[in-house]
Amino acid sequence: MSGQPVERVRFAIRRLNQKGLTRQRRTNQVMLAAGLDLIAMKHFVDNNEVAALGKIIAKGKESDVYEVISESGELFALKMFRLGRTSFRAVRRKRREPLGEVHSWIARNYTAARREFAALKRLEGVTRNVPRALAFNRHALLLEELLGVRLSEKPPLRSPSELLRQILDAVRGAYMEARIVNGDLSEYNVLTDGKKAWLIDWPQWVIVSGANANDLLKRDVSSLTRFFLRAYGVKAGEEKAYRYVMGKEERLPIRRERSSASG
Ligand SMILES: Nc1ncnc2c1ncn2[C@@H]1O[C@H](COP(=O)(O)OP(=O)(O)OP(=O)(O)O)[C@@H](O)[C@H]1O
Ligand SMILES: [Mg+2]
Repeated sequence: MSGQPVERVRFAIRRLNQKGLTRQRRTNQVMLAAGLDLIAMKHFVDNNEVAALGKIIAKGKESDVYEVISESGELFALKMFRLGRTSFRAVRRKRREPLGEVHSWIARNYTAARREFAALKRLEGVTRNVPRALAFNRHALLLEELLGVRLSEKPPLRSPSELLRQILDAVRGAYMEARIVNGDLSEYNVLTDGKKAWLIDWPQWVIVSGANANDLLKRDVSSLTRFFLRAYGVKAGEEKAYRYVMGKEERLPIRRERSSASG
């Protein structure tokens, strides 16, 4: 298929194996995570979306996020999905595992990137409290880089009650206008610079008409309100907040933080 002499192809494949990008399984070559990463990165480079790779921002259970820079010097976050990373390792150990496992590993990660991109596009124009999504390719997603920390680190906030309102307004916009629910919201999936908050991590979003959308929404809202109470002493009733994000309340009373809770 490559139109190259077979010896040239064998040589190239050997090099790919040595570099840990692909691996021989019986008569087949299977893709490894590092190989997929490079192909996706090459795509963004060829498209003039990325010029250079920078530091790793975060290494999570489900993804690795790198800082990248564009030709024009803009910083972006490159999120590369790693769903099933552990089982993928197991596949590497057990050499007799069927090839289907490799395909399903790749397919799950492609789906996650495509879904997260779709969610962020639906949210564009609805709320400014999510990162801008520039592009996706294979298992990788190119996002606006947010200069903030996770809320779970309990950073000092200019006004904790205002920030909670900002977050709940974004959840409300997602529900009422974009018609989606994140389903995995908590202090770990909110970044903040102290004044502004961004809701991140959307691959598992569901449509509001889905069977368990309301349960997921309730869980999202209660994780957030409980965290703000625990970490900043901000009181917003869980039930009230839930009704508010669904559009069943017009106003959301949030009690001002205790003066001692500066974060
Ligand atoms: N757009 C972004 N700009 C800057 N940092 C980001 C961005 N997106 C993600 N990050 C960083 O990467 C981390 C993981 O991102 P995210 O929550 O989307 O992925 P995840 O797969 O859920 O990872 P984890 O398993 O750690 O939760 C975030 O907590 C944050 O530190
Ligand atoms: Mg996360």
